[in-house]
Amino acid sequence: MATERKPLAERAAWQALQKHHQQIAGKHLRDLFAADPARGERYTAEAAGIFLDYSKNRIDDETLKLLLQLAEESGVAERRDAMFSGEKINITENRAVLHVALRAPKGEKILVDGEDQVALVHEVLEKMAGFSEKIRSGEWKGYTGKPIKNIVNIGIGGSDLGPVMAYEALKHYTQRDLTFRFVSNVDGTDFAEAVIDLSADETLFLVASKTFTTLETMTNAHSARTWALASLKEDAAIAKHFVAISTNAKEVAKFGIDTANMFGFWDWVGGRYSMDSAIGLSTMLAIGPDNFYDLLSGFHEMDVHFKSTPFEKNLPVLLGLLTVWYADFFNAQTVAILPYEQYLKRFPAYLQQLTMESNGKHVTLEGATVNYETGPIYWGEPGTNGQHSFYQLIHQGTRLIPCDFIGFFKTLNPLGRHHDMLMANVFAQAEALAFGKTADQVKAEGVPENLVPHKVFEGNRPSNVILADKLTPALLGKLVALYEHAVFTQGAIWNIDSFDQWGVELGKVLATRILGELEAEKEPAAGHDSSTNALIQKYRVSK
Ligand code: F6P
Repeated sequence: MATERKPLAERAAWQALQKHHQQIAGKHLRDLFAADPARGERYTAEAAGIFLDYSKNRIDDETLKLLLQLAEESGVAERRDAMFSGEKINITENRAVLHVALRAPKGEKILVDGEDQVALVHEVLEKMAGFSEKIRSGEWKGYTGKPIKNIVNIGIGGSDLGPVMAYEALKHYTQRDLTFRFVSNVDGTDFAEAVIDLSADETLFLVASKTFTTLETMTNAHSARTWALASLKEDAAIAKHFVAISTNAKEVAKFGIDTANMFGFWDWVGGRYSMDSAIGLSTMLAIGPDNFYDLLSGFHEMDVHFKSTPFEKNLPVLLGLLTVWYADFFNAQTVAILPYEQYLKRFPAYLQQLTMESNGKHVTLEGATVNYETGPIYWGEPGTNGQHSFYQLIHQGTRLIPCDFIGFFKTLNPLGRHHDMLMANVFAQAEALAFGKTADQVKAEGVPENLVPHKVFEGNRPSNVILADKLTPALLGKLVALYEHAVFTQGAIWNIDSFDQWGVELGKVLATRILGELEAEKEPAAGHDSSTNALIQKYRVSK
């Protein structure tokens, strides 16, 4: 697959975009809309029940043409096809990148090293479904014979953020007599508060860790075992109250969990791409196997769209290209994710790992330092709450912040006029950002001269509006896959490895060393810089 390509900044489309940017940067969205009355309908795309209005972006036909040419010159299609066919495109870890196999229908074949991965996926799914039914029906009994009422997922990063986000997003579909808690932080408060009102004989722990060596997760898992055994007493109780979700059977057995109670996955599932693998066991327990299969079918529908749709109508490609456009040509440093759906309250946090652990890279696949910006900072909160907090800066601050608004035609909780009010705010915010309010308009309202500058909205602030019918398990799958593939598109253009995460290693190593120094009886040698030495010393005398 390794076609020789020019470095990004030397590609014809990149250079043409630089020139083109100089022209379009001075144009206002007001003028672009005035010049093309059909713009609001033309710059839209729809697939798999997701509608994208990207007309309020600072683009014209030429921009789109050049961005699509950039995707072409960057080999996005070839790289996508390599991913789908199981090539080891995560080159620094020599791994295939096959989250798309996690939602491939039974019977499809994707080979890695000659072995069909889809069949393996379905074996695990069936095991998860059987287990979920037993827990949900009360057939599975805890050590003292009581059914399980509480499920505590212990994991961090991708082994936490996806499960938490999906649980919150799909709460409407959950079995309400089961209580779900999620423990991630090594801060003991997280564990203590999660179990404070639970009784061990009705509690099941899911220890979720791809590697089963992650410090935070293993520390919490050991504390959970101590907590459970304090009341259940016998080691034999562990088998009824702990299951593992991991790729590492050896470490699972070492921890004391019977590998019969282990749900496996594979090295080709990246942590941040794992919510639809066995890592999603908490999701399946919460919403049931049928809904979980619907979630997978939603993911798959978006995969098929990404794989087979021409780029000019391809939602993830368009979303990815627009992010590159702002990050590299407008120097936008962030992207705001603004779901107008309370159930999606953890979606921005989930996307932070997906986008920033994937594309926060400073070297190319060949190891050369990039001479362009890569992954922007993703952040956000649900609307309308954000409007009363940080939107001021988006509207009138000095920075350009592209926004993704996400909304639904129907609410899962109809209540008077609430939903119309919510959606009115989506459309109003996107309109206000794009068109603003001129000084003349402000003056015409009779605003005193001295206040006019304060009340002017420059506008020309870009946004996408993403709409769908209602939040269902399938829709959630489509939405997550949309962003997964948008991130992929960005990474392919930036020519970086979107699937490794070496940047998290150094801190882990240093923390292990410092932990020894915090706990040592003897004063440790002052082996760090003067700041770190002093902080360690201060903690030792004050703790
Ligand atoms: O923070 C680094 C990281 O490796 C993430 O990529 C991953 O999702 C998380 O740690 C948890 O890893 P594991 O599932 O192996 O415990």
